[in-house]
Amino acid sequence: MEVIILAAGQGKRMRSALPKVLQPIAGRPMLQHVVAAARALSPRIVCVVYGHGGEVVRERIADPELAWAKQEPQLGTGHAVQQALPHLVDGDSALVLYGDVPLIGAATLRRLQTAAGADRLALLTVELDDPTGYGRILRDEAGRVVRIVEHKDATEDERRVREVNTGILVAPVARLRDWLGRIGNDNAQGEYYLTDIIALAVAEGVEVATVQPDAVWETLGVNSKPQLAELERIHQRNIAQRLMEEGVTVLDPSRIDVRGELTVGRDVEIDVGCVFEGQVELGDDVRIGAHCVVKNARLGAGTRLAPFSHVEDTATGRACVIGPYARTRPGTVLGDDVHLGNFVEVKNSAIADHSKANHLAYVGDADVGERVNIGAGTITCNYDGANKYRTVIEDDAFIGSDTQLVAPVRVGRGATLGAGTTLTKDAPAGQLTVSRARQVSLAGWQRPVKTKK
Ligand code: UD1
Ligand code: CA
Repeated sequence: MEVIILAAGQGKRMRSALPKVLQPIAGRPMLQHVVAAARALSPRIVCVVYGHGGEVVRERIADPELAWAKQEPQLGTGHAVQQALPHLVDGDSALVLYGDVPLIGAATLRRLQTAAGADRLALLTVELDDPTGYGRILRDEAGRVVRIVEHKDATEDERRVREVNTGILVAPVARLRDWLGRIGNDNAQGEYYLTDIIALAVAEGVEVATVQPDAVWETLGVNSKPQLAELERIHQRNIAQRLMEEGVTVLDPSRIDVRGELTVGRDVEIDVGCVFEGQVELGDDVRIGAHCVVKNARLGAGTRLAPFSHVEDTATGRACVIGPYARTRPGTVLGDDVHLGNFVEVKNSAIADHSKANHLAYVGDADVGERVNIGAGTITCNYDGANKYRTVIEDDAFIGSDTQLVAPVRVGRGATLGAGTTLTKDAPAGQLTVSRARQVSLAGWQRPVKTKK
């Protein structure tokens, strides 16, 4: 199988500087979804036909296995396919896909491929309640396809036909070469129509098969931002459906966004408004509260993210409790039963089993041992404006509230830091270290009063 993806259209209606086929569905360019569907058929080659400004597309997709054919000017779908022909070999069949029809499924394409066999033409068609704008499939009394007529060229009678051309088809390469060399542009749009090859095939006695997609949304195209949003929702609902089939409790399947790969254990629960990006792995019994953003993370079994937490490049052990309003940044590694409460930020730090930072803290470039308690307002001062340094807090240390740990610095095993300490030297194990002025009370002190003018 050879695959041609048509992607030369400008997409003016997107009103965007970004070429249409780079507009994202689930965080990936539409074109990449189409390429992925094509690759499921293990084709010999995938050739993308690109147009004006398409260099941006080539650069952004940056896929060395793709072949590229430039179409300039754009004289129609038939002309577009013709540009790809130098990349194709006779004796094989070619599948034509659209770069702006991103949800096409591999299963549907396989059925189309089977229907085409080695020497037939196979069209993917759908019946629409409102076929306005589409090419109509015209059949003879025996039900055999005879040709496709574009909406703009169709008569009143022909426009009543509800079976339309999705644009996706399979044809033998050698025949395609010959037919495309013979089509003209004498039609309402003055374009070279790919659809004109159907009548040529029929005239030569080549069989034309039709196949319907597993779901109509697979064939929907994107020309505008509202259509992009519509397909995004369909795609996300499909992902939610799959997650639920795997046993995940998704509180509202219309309010979840997965932009990457989400793998889950048993009895995972996901509340509304969460976004998952990149590679995310949720262990058994993980619960994600409302409105969390989780990117490239592995959350151990039983871990709970409370609402509004933001977790990125993070790995946790079992039964951690994070949030609400917590943020873990790249390089966060948590052991088992670690608690991070509201307004706690952790970056490039390891925090071992049973340690807790329950309120308002910044832990950056730190190695925190087991059973450490980090009080409210604790800050690791890891950055002197030029360099970053590590803070080490050993097992069973107790860090009093409002403490600054000026790195590099080490808190020994079982040490206690008094509240308000600014630690600039290592704190010995097992001792209380405190750095603050002694408290005094002045008897007979008078509050200033306003002087009358
Ligand atoms: C095409 C079909 C029509 C079908 C409809 C489905 C033809 C003549 N008509 O119509 O039967 O019902 O799709 O949506 O094929 N493209 C290029 N170069 C060009 C023209 C188009 O690469 O010169 C690409 C576009 O980027 C797009 C695809 O081909 O991805 C279809 O083009 P579009 O203009 O949307 O085709 P329609 O006129 O809607
Ligand atoms: Ca179209």
